[in-house]
Amino acid sequence: MANKKDYFVDSVEESQKEKIQRESTFNGLSASEWAKGSRSVWNDLPFPRSENKVSGQDVIDEEVYARIISMYSKEDDTILDPFMGYGNSLVAAIHNNRHALGFETDPVKFVEANNHLVNSMNLLVNSDYRTYNGYFDEYADYIEPNSIQLAISSVMYNVEEKENANFSYEDFLYNYDQMLARAYDKIKVGGYVALIVRDFRDISNGRPYVECHSDVAKLGVKHGFLYQDVIIYDHNDSRGRLLLGYPSVFYVNLNHSYIVILRKQ
Ligand SMILES: C[S@@+](CC[C@H](N)C(=O)[O-])C[C@H]1O[C@@H](n2cnc3c(N)ncnc32)[C@H](O)[C@@H]1O
Repeated sequence: MANKKDYFVDSVEESQKEKIQRESTFNGLSASEWAKGSRSVWNDLPFPRSENKVSGQDVIDEEVYARIISMYSKEDDTILDPFMGYGNSLVAAIHNNRHALGFETDPVKFVEANNHLVNSMNLLVNSDYRTYNGYFDEYADYIEPNSIQLAISSVMYNVEEKENANFSYEDFLYNYDQMLARAYDKIKVGGYVALIVRDFRDISNGRPYVECHSDVAKLGVKHGFLYQDVIIYDHNDSRGRLLLGYPSVFYVNLNHSYIVILRKQ
């Protein structure tokens, strides 16, 4: 049986080993942290919340961004969110000692994001952030080429928006197309893009399944990125199941998002 002293020696050796591992990985993770993040289905994280009832836009929890940031970047890297909304991705970046850069076209959300960021600063944060009120596509030229390690974004498309906000799926894809085109040269070689999206149904237009995650991945490939991975972010337990198509056609409830990972080679 190991005595207390042996246990102490073991744990010192273990933490020394982890320190050496952290110094050798591009993201600063030890082997066990690397293994923990590498699950292909994430079902242990907070669920997206509906930002407001009119747009139906989902807000992704800071913890989800923090995991992505810890896997695809290291301390002092710069994280870009071209469509930052309320800024949870930037907050996750600064809390993990990354620099953050965010764009938001809506002036109300822009003010809220900045308040959120100011309130999230604390003595342990030793990184900085910059935010711009405007369209990413118009401001992108001000970003230094090859300066971004990870671009992260979560603009969810929701069919109901079409009626409410005159925002078609084609507009949504066009927005991503422009963003990926403008972001490419700003991202470092070896850097990443993580796009959090949801597939959806557009049954009234005869499209029972619209695979948004494939569509955005193809846009990434079109602009020169490598399609590297897709992670399933499960939120099945966040709401009750609807009897879609009952009793004549069986449809599953699409209660998950995809995190599409692109890489600049
Ligand atoms: C779903 S919200 C982002 C939510 C945010 N990622 C979060 O989880 O808190 C998407 C935001 O992108 C903004 N947006 C859409 N297109 C944009 C563009 N081309 N440039 C800048 N902001 C844009 C919208 O106003 C909206 O607030």
